[in-house]
Amino acid sequence: MIKIIRAKRKHFNTIRRMEIKTKLSLWPKWLYKALLVLTIGYGFIILYKNKPAGFLFAIPLISSVFIHQISILPKYQKKGLGGKLLNKILHNNKKTILITKQKVIPWYLKKGFVKSIIPQVLIYYNHHNLKGILSATKCV
Ligand SMILES: CC(C)(COP(=O)(O)OP(=O)(O)OC[C@H]1O[C@@H](n2cnc3c(N)ncnc32)[C@H](O)[C@@H]1OP(=O)(O)O)[C@@H](O)C(=O)NCCC(=O)NCCS
Repeated sequence: MIKIIRAKRKHFNTIRRMEIKTKLSLWPKWLYKALLVLTIGYGFIILYKNKPAGFLFAIPLISSVFIHQISILPKYQKKGLGGKLLNKILHNNKKTILITKQKVIPWYLKKGFVKSIIPQVLIYYNHHNLKGILSATKCV
C-alpha cells in the first residue's frame, strides 16, 4: 500500500504539483532539474495506494545531509508517511540538518531532531555522530 521510490527528472511535475498543494515555497524549476541532473541533490516520492502522496528532497553536504523539503499532501497527513520518508535518509552515517517553520518544529522534535543555536535550524544526530565517527546533516 505504501511504496517509496527514488525521484527522477521525469517526476519533476509531480513534485511541483505536491509543493503547490501543500502551499510550500516553490524552488525554481531549473534548480530542481539541475540538482537532479547533476545528481547534487536526490529525492524520494512516497506512493500511497500507487498515488503520489508526498516527497522529500535532500542535498548531501560534506559532513551532513540537508533536507531541503519534505511534504505530505494534506489528505495523506498523519498516516505516518512523513516519518517513513524521513527514515529513508536519517539512517545514513551523517547528521541531518534542516531549517523549518515554527509550527513544524514539534514534529521534527518528535522524530529525534534537536534544536541548534538557531531555533529554526534542527539537527538529527545518529549514533555515528554521537560517537564522533562521522557526521551528517538533514533537511533545511
Ligand atoms: C510535517 C509533515 C511532513 C508531517 O508528515 P505526516 O505524514 O503528517 O506526519 P506523520 O504521520 O509521520 O507523523 C504523525 C505524528 O506527527 C504529528 N504531527 C503532524 N504534523 C505535526 C505538526 N505540524 N506539529 C506537531 N506534530 C505534528 C501527528 O499528530 C502525529 O503524532 P502521533 O504519532 O503522536 O499521533 C506534513 O504535515 C507536511 O507535509 N506538512 C506541510 C509541509 C511542511 O510544513 N513541511 C515541512 C517543511 S520542510
